[in-house]
Amino acid sequence: MNERRNFLKSLSSAAIGTAALVGWQGWAQMIGPRSSIDLPGEDGMIVRSVRFLDLETPVEYFNSWLTPVSHFFVRNHMHEPVELNTAEWRLSVSGEVEKPCAFSLRELANFAVHSVVNTLECAGNGRGLQRPQVPGIQWQKGAVSTARFSGPRLADVLHRAGVKSNGKHVMLRGLDEVPGKVPPFIRSIPIEKALDSDTIIATHMNGEPLTKHHGFPARSLVPGWVGAASVKWLTEIKVLDSEFVGNFMSPGYRFPNQLVKPGDSVKPEDTHVLTGLNVKSVISGPLEGSGLKSGKVSVHGAAWAGEADIVKVEISTDGGSTWNAAALGHEQSRFAWRLWTYAWNAKRGDYVIRSRATDSQGRVQPSEAVWNPSGYLYNAIDEVKIHVA
Ligand code: MTE
Repeated sequence: MNERRNFLKSLSSAAIGTAALVGWQGWAQMIGPRSSIDLPGEDGMIVRSVRFLDLETPVEYFNSWLTPVSHFFVRNHMHEPVELNTAEWRLSVSGEVEKPCAFSLRELANFAVHSVVNTLECAGNGRGLQRPQVPGIQWQKGAVSTARFSGPRLADVLHRAGVKSNGKHVMLRGLDEVPGKVPPFIRSIPIEKALDSDTIIATHMNGEPLTKHHGFPARSLVPGWVGAASVKWLTEIKVLDSEFVGNFMSPGYRFPNQLVKPGDSVKPEDTHVLTGLNVKSVISGPLEGSGLKSGKVSVHGAAWAGEADIVKVEISTDGGSTWNAAALGHEQSRFAWRLWTYAWNAKRGDYVIRSRATDSQGRVQPSEAVWNPSGYLYNAIDEVKIHVA
């Protein structure tokens, strides 16, 4: 592990300088990725796993609409690629296409650039709050962040190869270092979502080349969908006539079609692949357990709903008996969270503050999340307990 850390450290100090100098095209000539975080946890992130890096964003960082890259959560199933030779890197496009092809970084940089502000949330975010508990990384509230992602449209790259009429799904493969017998990280998305004008091959995040943790040199960015669809260190695109079959499509990232009780066994045919995110809000202040002075208190947070829009966030300061509308922030974009605030006149006492979001599809954040054996898509009404003196 020390070797890996040293490697990341030496890589980052050399490459950060490079990144500062390169412009949009210059990025394609970068010798290697920047590493935004040298030592896991050193800049305030919650370390959920070091073996395969998993970093959670503390909720206090939900106060800015765009999450700084160094505070953007990280979810890796395996080791990050140890060596990425950008001169040799190619993105291949094959399968059900007229002209199989491969693009170098320079060639990819020649496509028109499209930007999407997207709230990326891991399907397992909130797993640690599920009761009864389920195995897996015990994410609390912060496996979610928002950034402006930029790069060519996946549709433009697919059109260059010419998708055949029987091309129905698009397989995306990452370059992770696969330990032992672990299957590679491969996901597929339906052709309709692949050809959507907002689905991109992101090479940049918040205006800078992707860092290594977030998929340098390129990742798919499938906005509004669970984070697993946005494959990092992308190296291969294959058009298929049916959904890809593999560990990260099944049994991974599937949700039961019916309600299941803890202990029930769920047959694979009674599940569906995860796509869009749930409606959800999180309180980013006041923080759990804080002691406040009576008077004006700003209750604030973020709310998101995948492919739908947030239409309302309501706050309860009496444990859920009465609800008041929060003011939604001005910054908005189709797949991005909305920040919200509620001005509360706090009097002395102990309080449970709750937040509840409603979206444009009429979905309302429930008081209890739908329990499932993998702990996916947790979205129960958020709450914090505080004391006002
Ligand atoms: N891509 C590859 N190649 N390997 C991975 O482990 N993790 C996925 C997705 N893409 C993953 C991947 C999951 S589960 C999530 S939630 C997002 O990346 C997290 O992206 P981030 O680390 O940039 O926040």
